[in-house]
Amino acid sequence: MCLRDERVLLGVSGGIAAYKAAELVRRLRDAGAQVRVVMTEGAKHFITPLTLQALSANPVRDSLWDASAEAAMGHIELARWATRVLIAPASADLLARLAHGHGDDLLSTLVLASTAPLAVAPAMNQQMWAHPATQANIALLRSRGVQVFGPGSGDQACGEVGPGRLLEAAELVAALAGTVRGHAVLAGVRVLITAGPTFEDIDPVRFIGNRSSGKMGFALAAAATAMGAEVTLVAGPVALATPAGVLRQDVRSAAQMLAAVMAALPGQHIYIGAAAVADYTPAQVADKKIKKTAADMAVALARTTDILATVAARSPRPFVVGFAAETHDLEHYARDKLQRKGLDLIAANQVGCAESGFEADCNTLQVFWADGACTLGPDSKVAVAQQLLSLIAQRRAQAGA
Ligand code: C5P
Repeated sequence: MCLRDERVLLGVSGGIAAYKAAELVRRLRDAGAQVRVVMTEGAKHFITPLTLQALSANPVRDSLWDASAEAAMGHIELARWATRVLIAPASADLLARLAHGHGDDLLSTLVLASTAPLAVAPAMNQQMWAHPATQANIALLRSRGVQVFGPGSGDQACGEVGPGRLLEAAELVAALAGTVRGHAVLAGVRVLITAGPTFEDIDPVRFIGNRSSGKMGFALAAAATAMGAEVTLVAGPVALATPAGVLRQDVRSAAQMLAAVMAALPGQHIYIGAAAVADYTPAQVADKKIKKTAADMAVALARTTDILATVAARSPRPFVVGFAAETHDLEHYARDKLQRKGLDLIAANQVGCAESGFEADCNTLQVFWADGACTLGPDSKVAVAQQLLSLIAQRRAQAGA
């Protein structure tokens, strides 16, 4: 992960997660960034400016009205200095003020005055995060191109459980590094992605399908393109628009998807199997509509070829990423697939719950590789896709691919 040559203006707002800013400053500097910290009044109740000054090796700013600090570096100069603005933690109040363009303290003023890309990492009580006002503010910020990292889900300092946790420092640095302006981390990288379901015809009228919407695969294609990759998307039958810049090939059945993948495979650096490929297909397809004359009927099914395992078995082969949709024992089944199919990384999601998996706009992924694991989300499929691609870029670099 590299943030060399980046000048990160880190905004810290008031919330218990502000204590994590100390670790974040260290990680940002480890990744090569210069860091200057700006705190809101509330943040200073949770962590001292002195701590962040020592770790960032720069004076911490907290007021628009500090004459000596303004004399050293005026707030407009500070806004121009930044190549990236990251606000972590971003409280519900700060998000509201940013959404509405307030400039009533140093941090909100700097955001207005800076042209640097802005990323926010929300952290708050899960009920505050779920509140329609917060969600509307987040949607407005996103629509203006603000990146939203997290929040993560789990135990909260207030004793509740749910989404609202600040992402870990390493996850924030990875997310930031994945989207560094001028350093598209996937520049020159060719990525082949499968998405959506496959339909296996029984006769000219009926087929066997599944509930995959294709949203995750399409989000991955969009995010990879935004990160500089050349993306080929092999899509099963879905009603989704092709992301800008993506080369798309539509297929219907598992056999067609296999053929399209194999044809597109030479020269690919990364393969991501996000499609829900049918495991079985009718052994024979009737060429005429089957009439309902019998009281019951059976359809003989034959196994399809596992596209993912086939790609992973090739030599040379790309960096291979699989998906696993499970209803239970997520880690056990995901790790088994990782090993059995010879993958570099597997992203598992829990299906059968309302907030994630098939058809939902949000997702949580548990990601596993040979000697590690991490959780991405819950977040929109677009945000989770960005985080997953940053992780893939990082793991691929470490694997020396
Ligand atoms: O074994 P399972 O179907 O649960 O594995 C899911 C992963 O394998 C997904 O990445 C999916 O795209 C891939 N797969 C495949 N070809 C198949 C079945 C699954 O590429 N025939």
